[in-house]
Amino acid sequence: MNQAEKERAAKIGKNWTPKSYIKNEIEAIRKQVGDKKVLLAMSGGVDSSVCAVLLHKAIGKQLTCVFVDHGCMRKNEAKEVKKVFKGKFGINLIQIDAEKRFLEKAKGITDPELKRKCIGGEFIRVFEEEAKKLGKIEFLGQGTIYPDIIESGVGGHKAVKAHHNVGGLPKDIGFEGLVEPVKYLYKDEVRKVGRALGIPAEMVDRQPFPGPGLAVRCLGELTKEKLDVLRDADAIFREEMAKAKLDKKAQQFFAVMTNVKAVGVKNGARTYGYVIAIRAISTSQFVKAGIVELPFKFVTAVAEKIATKVKGVNRVVWDVTPKPPATIEWE
Ligand code: XMP
Repeated sequence: MNQAEKERAAKIGKNWTPKSYIKNEIEAIRKQVGDKKVLLAMSGGVDSSVCAVLLHKAIGKQLTCVFVDHGCMRKNEAKEVKKVFKGKFGINLIQIDAEKRFLEKAKGITDPELKRKCIGGEFIRVFEEEAKKLGKIEFLGQGTIYPDIIESGVGGHKAVKAHHNVGGLPKDIGFEGLVEPVKYLYKDEVRKVGRALGIPAEMVDRQPFPGPGLAVRCLGELTKEKLDVLRDADAIFREEMAKAKLDKKAQQFFAVMTNVKAVGVKNGARTYGYVIAIRAISTSQFVKAGIVELPFKFVTAVAEKIATKVKGVNRVVWDVTPKPPATIEWE
């Protein structure tokens, strides 16, 4: 057993339960933080959400959460985060609407890697600025989970990829230390703890959503027009997947803005609109992925609905490429 495995074994014994984990972690957080303050970057994802509620239960108003809306979130995502975490739990949450700033910064960039770097870099700058405004905060909270530690090569494991959660935020903001209350949990265990904390099922069971958000699903230059079209198409696809109870069969399913325009016909008149792709994959570890065999009738009905209801779209294609050779995300 290496160090990380020993530490996990100490926290998650054979008889662990979400309730006992919550109780122990609340005590551990209180011991570590004392009467000091914690700042947490929330993404709306499962890990940072569970982390936020655990920290809130432990230290209440000593916690400040910051949610940066980079303009590449899914439809209504920012509103839902506010409703649940500020409304239901009463967490001290600051939401920053930075859409304009991010889109301005990303203007003209079409290369996928440069787009990622642009969004990642700007995220850090916005977060840093916000942290400075808040004055002295001693600790940085992070929703690091056990696979992040393994993938980043910590604890004697071989590095697979540099994960954004491990050492991803800048150290020079001046934090005394990190608080990582779900660090030794696997994803399914984080979900169990989330349920026990009373986080709504639709948030706990969420599919993974990449840090750069829809930026990696909106090909070519990022514009508000294209992102809005994508958000609407994606919302329809996700809603239909849930209605048809197909959402449990796919680990990830989403729409992609292909940036290609095609000719179509609506109400007897010619249209020239975007082609949207839909993708639903099944995977256990996200390293390889297969295609979920959606019923053909379902696919054609979704295609028709998106191409009819979403302004600016007149064609939908179904991405049936496994990983490898494709990746799950398009960029
Ligand atoms: P790919 O596209 O590499 O995706 O097959 C594998 C898994 O990783 C997610 N992904 C990301 N997650 N930040 C994240 O937090 C990122 O930059 C990022 N890029 C890809 C992707 O959604 C899939 O689950």
